[in-house]
Amino acid sequence: MTQGPIGVFDSGYGGLTVLKEIIAELPEYDYCYLGDNARTPYGNRGFETIHAYTLDCVQHLFRMGCPLVILACNTASAKALRTIQQKDLPRIAPDRRVLGVIRPTTELVGTLTQTGEVGILATNGTVASDSYPIEINKFFPHVKVYQEACPMWVPLVENNEHEGPGADYFVKKHLDHILSEAPNIDTLVLGCTHYPLLMGRIREYLPGGITVLSQGKIVAHSLKDYLRRHPEMEVRLSKNQDHRFFTTDDSRIFDRMAATFFGKTVQSQHLAL
Ligand code: DGL
Repeated sequence: MTQGPIGVFDSGYGGLTVLKEIIAELPEYDYCYLGDNARTPYGNRGFETIHAYTLDCVQHLFRMGCPLVILACNTASAKALRTIQQKDLPRIAPDRRVLGVIRPTTELVGTLTQTGEVGILATNGTVASDSYPIEINKFFPHVKVYQEACPMWVPLVENNEHEGPGADYFVKKHLDHILSEAPNIDTLVLGCTHYPLLMGRIREYLPGGITVLSQGKIVAHSLKDYLRRHPEMEVRLSKNQDHRFFTTDDSRIFDRMAATFFGKTVQSQHLAL
């Protein structure tokens, strides 16, 4: 049997915040990261486009030999995952699996809130899909979910402006807005894998007593659990602790930016679309 790496995909750099935690939790495996930097951001794009781009990248990861791909991107998980799992995989790769980041987060969030009111900060696409309220209410029907689209946050992070004054303005704007609508929120989900880079700013503008959840560790625990429950997939994963990085844009630019998200330097290769 041919073994292969775990594929991790994001529209850009954000998925590196998830990959970092997955590697910490499951260091023995090989990983192949693909950032679609040439077409980022996905957040404001329509369903058809996000599905087409995501499927294209998933197929690239399959060609690189990945039996399992994690969509470390909420926008892709919200807009493309179900179609890929239900319609595309049976046709193109029935023996491979694609998982997202929304489900593991929604399984947890209702156990953390005391007030029964949670907030979701995410891209326009994720908010418009209503994936978070729908999924949370499947597990926790009593929980009230408030959403806030923060369309400027990804561009701020992707352009390395997340510590500048522009970030102060846009972080405060969206936190003030969601809290004015829902002052009893006690749990706030960073529903975009880019947002952990804004964690410092977010905490500065939030009143105390609100738990802020970022997804890296949650997804890592959930993947560990998935592999325990799916030994038939686990044996198909190679284990040489090899980490490879691909970007659909310029690899020098990717390498300069990636360390901010991943915590250490990487050497990526360009992948032609
Ligand atoms: N990191 C992606 C997410 O988790 C979004 C980035 C984008 O808008 O492309 O939603």
